[in-house]
Amino acid sequence: MKKESTHLHPLYLPCLLIFLLSSLRSITGDARARAVKVTCSPLLEHNATAYVPNFVATMEKISQQVQISGYGVALTGSGPDANYGLAQCYGDLSLNDCVLCYAEARTILPQCYPQNGGRIFLDGCFMRAENYSFYNEFKGPEDNIVCGNTTRKTQTFGEAVRQGLKNAVDAAPGSGGYARASAKAGGSESESESSAFVLANCWRTLSPDSCKQCLENASASVVKRCLPWSEGRALHTGCFLRYSDQDFLNKIPRNGRSKGSVVVIVVSVLSSVVVFMVGIAISVYVCKRRTIQKKRRGSNDVEKMAKTLKDSSLNFKYSTLEKATGSFDEANKLGQGGFGTVYKGVLQDGRDIAVKRLFFNNRHRATDFYNEVNMISTVEHKNLVRLLGCSCAGPESLLVYEYLQNKSLDRFIFDVNRGKTLDWQRRYMIIVGTAEGLVYLHEQSSVKIIHRDIKASNILLDSKLQAKIADFGLARSFQDDKSHISTAIAGTLGYMAPEYLAHGQLTEMVDVYSFGVLVLEIVTGKQNTKSKISDYSDSLITEAWKHFQSGDLEEIYDPNLNWKNEIDSHVMEKEMLRVVQIGLLCTQEVPSLRPSMSKVLYMLKNKEEILPSPSNPPFMDERVMEFRDGSDGGSAACASLATVSQSSFYGR
Ligand SMILES: *[C@@H]1O[C@H](CO)[C@@H](O)[C@H](O)[C@H]1NC(C)=O
Ligand SMILES: *[C@@H]1O[C@H](CO)[C@@H](O)[C@H](O)[C@H]1NC(C)=O
Ligand SMILES: *[C@@H]1O[C@H](CO)[C@@H](O)[C@H](O)[C@H]1NC(C)=O
Ligand SMILES: *[C@@H]1O[C@H](CO)[C@@H](O)[C@H](O)[C@H]1NC(C)=O
Repeated sequence: MKKESTHLHPLYLPCLLIFLLSSLRSITGDARARAVKVTCSPLLEHNATAYVPNFVATMEKISQQVQISGYGVALTGSGPDANYGLAQCYGDLSLNDCVLCYAEARTILPQCYPQNGGRIFLDGCFMRAENYSFYNEFKGPEDNIVCGNTTRKTQTFGEAVRQGLKNAVDAAPGSGGYARASAKAGGSESESESSAFVLANCWRTLSPDSCKQCLENASASVVKRCLPWSEGRALHTGCFLRYSDQDFLNKIPRNGRSKGSVVVIVVSVLSSVVVFMVGIAISVYVCKRRTIQKKRRGSNDVEKMAKTLKDSSLNFKYSTLEKATGSFDEANKLGQGGFGTVYKGVLQDGRDIAVKRLFFNNRHRATDFYNEVNMISTVEHKNLVRLLGCSCAGPESLLVYEYLQNKSLDRFIFDVNRGKTLDWQRRYMIIVGTAEGLVYLHEQSSVKIIHRDIKASNILLDSKLQAKIADFGLARSFQDDKSHISTAIAGTLGYMAPEYLAHGQLTEMVDVYSFGVLVLEIVTGKQNTKSKISDYSDSLITEAWKHFQSGDLEEIYDPNLNWKNEIDSHVMEKEMLRVVQIGLLCTQEVPSLRPSMSKVLYMLKNKEEILPSPSNPPFMDERVMEFRDGSDGGSAACASLATVSQSSFYGR
């Protein structure tokens, strides 16, 4: 198995990275990298100049440990700016799944900033950072229960859950804090009514006794709060516990260690990309802040700005926005974006607005920020969400946008019921509208803007279900002027073009790629990034590509489109095929082969124009095709990838 020496395609490693990231599932299992809950500490950081680098350094140290052991603790700095961190994957994750999960945790937790710490529970791992040592804590007021699926089950299932919990809770403290269990109860009932699956995991810093107390309390709470529902999770200070009627656990690896070293190589590249990007984002922010602070000395910038702001219609008072959103009430929360949380608000004159509360406070560079907002607010187009203004100098940085009553596209296309609201005509108009918005950003506005984060949740729908692109221009304001590798936190796994993810290479083609993914999602009603339990099927792009090649695309069209029953079904079918082909042209691996957005728009509008044939999407070069052919199905293809990279990297 080890010694087949194989020649590697030059794009191999980047592609493997993309593959790992874009599907958030891995060679051997499921990373379960879905965030269940983020809780931020109540206190603000003490001194940002010291806090941010400490945080970044701690994460870097932990990252190195996680790659080796699936767990890490680190301390950087001292006094009130000290940063204590802990990250741990649950025991059933393989190392490479672990790094994926960690990478996700690592990109989400900084959202707590400027709070001085926080914790995040994902379904596959946990991470926490504070300015004090919390390593021995195992209970506290933040202990939480999140049930999840609320399908009602029978008493028999309840018995199985209790038995499974008991087994796992008894076993874990004595076996490094981790145990899994599956239990069956009754006899006559169906498999799903009688089987329960349980995972129990304490943080490795705890003593067996603390672990036991944590799990016992967690177990009792989850039974009380979640049964008779089909799923329950306890998110406690010192442990994680989950039961379900679905077997969410990863298979127990047969020859556990054999893949370790490849995985570490692949994964260390991968995680350094992620850490690097986030690190850069934060350090850019810090550097920038420093230079601004320097600049500010000896000038009357502040007064000038105060006057500009007072006179500007773009300026919203912090208190006005606070009032409009009910002090950022959870109930008004519309969603979470790359740079902040969005709330619905109503101004005193009755106007609806959407307020974005940024993770990073720009108060210290309010002039720059204001100029940025000023610039973006001049970008006006029917397919772009209007930026109305900001609270640039208040205690927090807030952006104010027009409010769109139908919210975002993902709420429709990925939803069984709402999906029906969007028939093919409407979806086609949304695709065209999004393309028009992008053409404007890329080619027609006064400043060229690359969006970088085109995805279904960034396409908003107005009252007539017309598409408007949200969140553009913002990435620029977090960008270092000189280095365009400072790709920052922008971008979403699964929509990111391979060259951008692997090399930070940023051109309009990055948006074209994401647009292509979006188009495929709109036609199929499926999400490209989805980490499903024991699902080894290929990514959406690969799936579309295969069906396109074999001429049976109708199998992947969204059933919600119900197109076969339409009178003009053959016209629709032709259109859908055309749109998929355009989507595949946009997601071609080689950026220079992808069409520009204006070309895309032209192809969408001129339905008789003959389309070029798409070349392969990432990961479908002939080499890889060969591996696939020689193996027995999807998961084996993944395994053979691993084998090949192992044999090639091993001997160095
Ligand atoms: C914040 O930390 C930096 C770096 O440690 C230090 O130079 C600076 O004096 C601190 N500022 C305050 C207000 O304590
Ligand atoms: C943690 O930070 C808070 C606020 O920034 C500060 O009040 C507190 O003293 C710090 N804790 C320690 C242990 O230094
Ligand atoms: C909830 O659980 C039921 C079975 O108990 C399953 O059929 C369904 O798919 C689950 N729903 C989600 C959203 O996971
Ligand atoms: C778990 O512990 C908390 C105190 O930390 C207590 O209030 C709660 O009642 C306990 N829950 C159960 C089910 O024992």
